[in-house]
Amino acid sequence: MKAVVFNKNGKPDKLVLQEVEIPIPLENEVLVKVYAVSVNAYDYRSMQLGIVPKKKIFGADVSGVVETVGNNVKKLRIGDEVFGDLSASGSGGFAEYVTAPESAFGIKPAKVSFEDAAATPMAALTALQALRDLGQIQPGQHVLIYGSGGGVGTFAVQLAKYYGAEVTAVCSPKNVEQTRSLGADHVIDYSKSDGLNSSTKFDLIVAVNGNRPLMDYKRVLKSNGNFVLVGGAFSQIIRMLLFGKILSIGGKKMRFLSAKPDVKDLEFVIQLMESGKIKAVIDRQYSLPETSEAVKYLKQGHAQGKVVISVHQQ
Ligand SMILES: NC(=O)c1ccc[n+]([C@@H]2O[C@H](COP(=O)([O-])OP(=O)(O)OC[C@H]3O[C@@H](n4cnc5c(N)ncnc54)[C@H](OP(=O)(O)O)[C@@H]3O)[C@@H](O)[C@H]2O)c1
Repeated sequence: MKAVVFNKNGKPDKLVLQEVEIPIPLENEVLVKVYAVSVNAYDYRSMQLGIVPKKKIFGADVSGVVETVGNNVKKLRIGDEVFGDLSASGSGGFAEYVTAPESAFGIKPAKVSFEDAAATPMAALTALQALRDLGQIQPGQHVLIYGSGGGVGTFAVQLAKYYGAEVTAVCSPKNVEQTRSLGADHVIDYSKSDGLNSSTKFDLIVAVNGNRPLMDYKRVLKSNGNFVLVGGAFSQIIRMLLFGKILSIGGKKMRFLSAKPDVKDLEFVIQLMESGKIKAVIDRQYSLPETSEAVKYLKQGHAQGKVVISVHQQ
């Protein structure tokens, strides 16, 4: 099969399209023919940190069709349309076929395209777990999504609206219209102001790109409010991990999210998508040989939604 293999010494490119053996599923695994795979910051950050999957193939968020099943597979059958986040099971999605435990996959509804399904797992679950689990979002709350333009941000705005919040979102000028169309009640263009100097206070702040000093966020939290750091510079994440407990003394809670793959959560968000309550926002689509371009584009940090690679056509 064709796969994009990571070669740390590769020049000019570390991501190289080459022929490799189709993987064989273990007893609890399925072999999935990949139809689409989306790119995440997780992929390029892992490359930067030298955390390379065993088979040297990145790509965690996949959708496709079950081609063969291991002897011990109970739930999935050949022909099932599936999707999932394989970051905890070796990635491997930048390829024509991938193997992973059946427990990593949810069933893709027929109504949802392979591209939309591949765009969903990591970004939507990060947004969901930030809002619902650490954020404890409640209807009527005033929620700030700081960084609404990318993969996580576009889902966060929609999910916060789904939970009945009043949503203020911060993004660059080019994402203002998109953010508004996703349901945000107030959109702040960060080239003019970023909402942290105003007198408005929030019950919940989800910092998808939270690079401002942590005290600036704390200042605009209501007493008993929750701040959830999702992304930002590495130094900011370290600060949050070191000082989160101290900053949380008193009513305001300041925490860092570590999102986890979860099939129940996957099924929850894909049902919202199937029923039209939320949608995947796809900025650009690439082909498998263009994977390196796709990763470079996302790495620039200003994608307008998700970046998806179409591998097989339906
Ligand atoms: N903690 C976790 O478990 C977890 C899980 C998944 C992802 N993440 C992290 O979450 C972050 C977002 O992931 P993603 O997949 O959504 O990435 P992405 O698609 O690349 O989106 C990044 C977004 O950040 C926005 N941005 C850039 N500079 C900004 C600024 N100064 N102020 C406000 N927004 C700004 C950009 O929008 P504009 O073009 O409008 O600036 C862009 O849309 C990444 O840092 C990623 O590593 C964390």
